[in-house]
Amino acid sequence: MRCHHTAILAHFLILALLAFPFAMATADTVNSSHDSWSGQVAHVYGTRVVDLDGNVHRIGTDAGVEPVVLLFMNAFCPVSSRYAPELNDLATFADAHGTSFYGVMSGPYLTVGEARNFVADHGFDFPVIFDPSGDLALRLNPVVTPEAFVINSGDDVIYRGRIDDRFEAVGVLRNQITSHDLKDAIAMVGADGDPLPHSTNSVGCVFEGWEAERLPESVTYSRDIAPLLAANCTECHRDGSIAPFPLDTYVDAKRRARMLAFVTREQIMPPWRAVEGFGAFRDERHLSDRQIALLAAWAEAGAPFGEGVEALPETV
Ligand code: HEC
Repeated sequence: MRCHHTAILAHFLILALLAFPFAMATADTVNSSHDSWSGQVAHVYGTRVVDLDGNVHRIGTDAGVEPVVLLFMNAFCPVSSRYAPELNDLATFADAHGTSFYGVMSGPYLTVGEARNFVADHGFDFPVIFDPSGDLALRLNPVVTPEAFVINSGDDVIYRGRIDDRFEAVGVLRNQITSHDLKDAIAMVGADGDPLPHSTNSVGCVFEGWEAERLPESVTYSRDIAPLLAANCTECHRDGSIAPFPLDTYVDAKRRARMLAFVTREQIMPPWRAVEGFGAFRDERHLSDRQIALLAAWAEAGAPFGEGVEALPETV
């Protein structure tokens, strides 16, 4: 009996999905609300992150010092997918205004494979950052996905909120878009002057967020540690570079797990002072407290690889 009922229910859900995709969106979508918001410091400039192709970026400083858009996206949110076809155009628009455009995928249950499939399905040609442990999300605290953050070159958020006003409310589409909020914010941040911070309410799916004081339930190599090492360590710790041993495979990292926890806790690594002949920003390297705690938790747990998830592709 139970099975029968479940089958009927499943049928109904599929029909409902086909017929009313946006009605379905209402079940787990919300309006973000930050009415008391009057600006915030982003704390993202110079942060080293890795995108889903394995490329390392230093946020806001990839090409000098430039304004930044960080757009939190969600592989399983109908609202987020609805915007996907236009995001390449927005990224091109940002580029024309001297602004870096990054997608961000972050969530306690998101795997590398799921995130990479989402990016591949939509053919995004801007970098999409994988933020598996919430390090980036915790600095900005998105409320919904999609939610955009426009950050000026002083590391201040000057706009947060929706892409445009096509969703009047949860599940309700307007006939016509009347306000291109993200585009306007990009045009403003790229222009001279110092725009006042403002926000709009974004409509989308609840951001399955993080608790600042708590690490993910299990810390694994493939989700948490590989991206961290790829972004911060393997530039030197790989065959043919300046460090004495590589850290770009699971075996290499695992056999030194406690040592990695130790040198990062003691701030011996990554190097703080200039290493001669190796880049201009040497002394700006540092890990966040959360990243240091992740390395410690991973070593403590016996350096697990992680199940059912794929590692990031090799850093290029
Ligand atoms: C700019 C290059 C560079 C980066 C980036 C870097 N390292 Fe190193 N690392 C080195 C060099 C060079 C040594 C050897 C130091 C020495 O012999 O004094 C080293 C040594 C180490 C050691 C051995 C410590 C010791 O006292 O011998 C560990 C462990 C280590 N690094 C971990 C890391 C981790 C973890 C990261 C990233 C969070 C990292 N390193 C980032 C260059 C780097």
